[in-house]
Amino acid sequence: MEKALLSVAYIASSILFIMSLRGLSSQETARQGNLYGVTGMVVAIIATTLSSSVTAYGALVGALLGGTVVGGFLASRVAMTAMPELVAMLHSFVGAAAVLVGFASYLGDDGHEGSRTILLIEIFLDIFIGALTFTGSVIAFFKLRGTLSGKPTLLPGRHLLNLSICAATLVLVILFVQAPGTTGLTPLLIMTALSCALGVHLVVAIGGADMPVVVSMLNSYSGWTASAAGFMLGNDLLIVTGALVGSSGAILSYIMCRAMNRSIWNVIFGGFGADPPKGSTKAAPVTPEGEIKETSLDDCADSLLAAREVIFVPGYGMAVARAQHAVQQITDTLRQRGITVRFAIHPVAGRLPGHMNVLLAEASVPYDIVLEMDEINDEFPRTDVVLVIGANDIVNPGAQTDVSSPIYGMPVLEVWKSRKVVVLKRSRGAGYAGVDNPLFYHENASMLLGDARTTMESLLGKLKAA
Ligand code: TAP
Repeated sequence: MEKALLSVAYIASSILFIMSLRGLSSQETARQGNLYGVTGMVVAIIATTLSSSVTAYGALVGALLGGTVVGGFLASRVAMTAMPELVAMLHSFVGAAAVLVGFASYLGDDGHEGSRTILLIEIFLDIFIGALTFTGSVIAFFKLRGTLSGKPTLLPGRHLLNLSICAATLVLVILFVQAPGTTGLTPLLIMTALSCALGVHLVVAIGGADMPVVVSMLNSYSGWTASAAGFMLGNDLLIVTGALVGSSGAILSYIMCRAMNRSIWNVIFGGFGADPPKGSTKAAPVTPEGEIKETSLDDCADSLLAAREVIFVPGYGMAVARAQHAVQQITDTLRQRGITVRFAIHPVAGRLPGHMNVLLAEASVPYDIVLEMDEINDEFPRTDVVLVIGANDIVNPGAQTDVSSPIYGMPVLEVWKSRKVVVLKRSRGAGYAGVDNPLFYHENASMLLGDARTTMESLLGKLKAA
């Protein structure tokens, strides 16, 4: 393929990737966004394959087939709740690929035009971020799977250790750039080992509860690695795509941190999840007063049928129970009776950004009744019944009142301001953050204990029979 045609194809791919990101920003256009992304990638692969720099077609076809089969198999079998693990694993592949490409570029004569110093710095940077992303993602994968403990492992003087590794890397880059031919392999290998260690150290220092933010951060790192590889290989598309992934991952991490009242710098430099959040103190935890009341299916059905305004608050438990289809059927039943039903979505409900939106969309819940926290928080005082479906931390009033709480300062859905709250969960236990929830003791709150799907299906039966 001619160079000019290749450039046109790469520009088309870049535009399709940007349109894909735009499409993915709302449920209505997400499917279309996905399609743009897939088309952009197909154009990129075909154009690269036909370019004059590709000659080893045998190896390429083998790699493409292998990748397609393994990727398709993994993606089709993964449960929604295990999605962060899969994403972490995929990031580790990006990191490993960047390291291999970096070494290949250094050791092979790729006929790169331009300054050798700049090329060497690009190779060094690509391998540094790639190795860090690789080991960091592998550790994140094992933490998310539960193979490694979710507790943060904090080595004494950990910040000093990180700083020393960065300082040693700076010395190594100077040695590497000054080495003639391929004699810089030793500093390159030492840096790779140090970067691998840094990736492990940064991620083991982070608590399992904060792993989704880390996965998003690693996503960003993998984008920057790809971008560095693009500079190294003189491939414009890789530079643009890497920058898109890098910046969108960084923005997503920032949004998640803000929604959880965490500092993004703690994520980057480790120790995240171990330090108390902004504004919290070491005061004694506030013990909720009062008693937890339980309610029955009949009572809950009666309250829903007597209500005019109902809000459902889904959380991680709805995902675990796969209750979304029963939730959708209840929504339909209530709406047919003229009852207004809406959904309140917290930005970090569940374990993935947009986790609840995906599940509700899958169950065909209309988008226009699914509202973000900022849009619906003022509506609770006007609401007759709130059904909290397997959510806990995101409706914890202690986040506003208990300065000793690890989630103090995290914005929450103010469900307790409604007339009646029914919480569906299996036990009286705590949520992800491991803190007691004073909501359960509120006068207007009661619990409907049991698996969320079984409870919602039984509730649906009662509503239909009424
Ligand atoms: P959680 O606080 O984890 O509470 C979920 C509740 O669901 C649990 O208390 C559990 O209680 C209940 N549950 C589990 N399985 C159930 C089932 N089969 N049926 C009924 N109930 C079930 O979830 P949340 O309120 O969605 O909050 C999300 C948490 O994840 C926050 O702490 C957030 O900071 C953290 N987090 C989220 C993200 C993103 S991006 N979403 C990222 C990082 C961290 P029982 O065991 O008693 O049933």
